[in-house]
Amino acid sequence: VAPTFPYLGRGIGLRPPHYVEILEAERPPVDWFEVVTENFLGAGGNPRRVLMRVRERAPVVLHGVSLDLGSCDPLDEAYLDRLAALVRDVEPALVSDHACWGSHGGRRAHDLWPLPYNEESLAHVCARVARVQERLGRRIAVENVSAYAACAASAMAEHEWLAELARRADCGLLVDVNNVHVSARNLGFDARAYLAALPAERIAYVHLAGHADRGTHYLDTHDAPVCAEVRDLHRELVARVGPRSTLVEWDGRLPPLARLVAEAHAVAA
Ligand SMILES: [Fe+2]
Repeated sequence: VAPTFPYLGRGIGLRPPHYVEILEAERPPVDWFEVVTENFLGAGGNPRRVLMRVRERAPVVLHGVSLDLGSCDPLDEAYLDRLAALVRDVEPALVSDHACWGSHGGRRAHDLWPLPYNEESLAHVCARVARVQERLGRRIAVENVSAYAACAASAMAEHEWLAELARRADCGLLVDVNNVHVSARNLGFDARAYLAALPAERIAYVHLAGHADRGTHYLDTHDAPVCAEVRDLHRELVARVGPRSTLVEWDGRLPPLARLVAEAHAVAA
């Protein structure tokens, strides 16, 4: 049976400078909100209070950066316990993290590094996704990261690896179209062919963001509007796979809420 993921409409990332305005608005300015999981893992405190109030008004998606699905260190079971408790309390519409690694030998880099794409990494990440899904009792969505270098040990294309991961682990994909665009420029692959090859039924939702052109490479900065090329790629993707919950990520040089909301509506249109 093909998996189905809820269609939530247009969303934005929930960021502290916008908390008050969002909570005081007559109704939410967008259809849904995504939060960075790690900022809400504490059981009490103001962040959790805000999250629960937002959750009363609109669907919430939990987007993590610490599952470290590709690392060779053991899965952090304590983190998984806290994530499971948050999922139980918040009942998010979707739960996601990244296809990457960021720790080794117990040292954590707090970065999202690309994996080598081969059978060995596929089997490794599949087993870890399966463990996470078993612990949470639900599917997660795994996001493609932006890359500035490719691993010599890769034996298949990133999109082939992701499609196979989704099929074998029975998980969803979070397709970050800006990351595809950035990596395609940096590594010299075809973003269109990449997106065209992803299995439609596995695409849980979509990220869009801005980046910077540094001459020799694109840098994934999340500090600018979504560029025309990424909008085009997004339009083509939706034309092929149908409507998908779409989120605008904007972190650096965060604009006023109204500007961010306008961006979310513009890309959805
Ligand atoms: Fe993203």
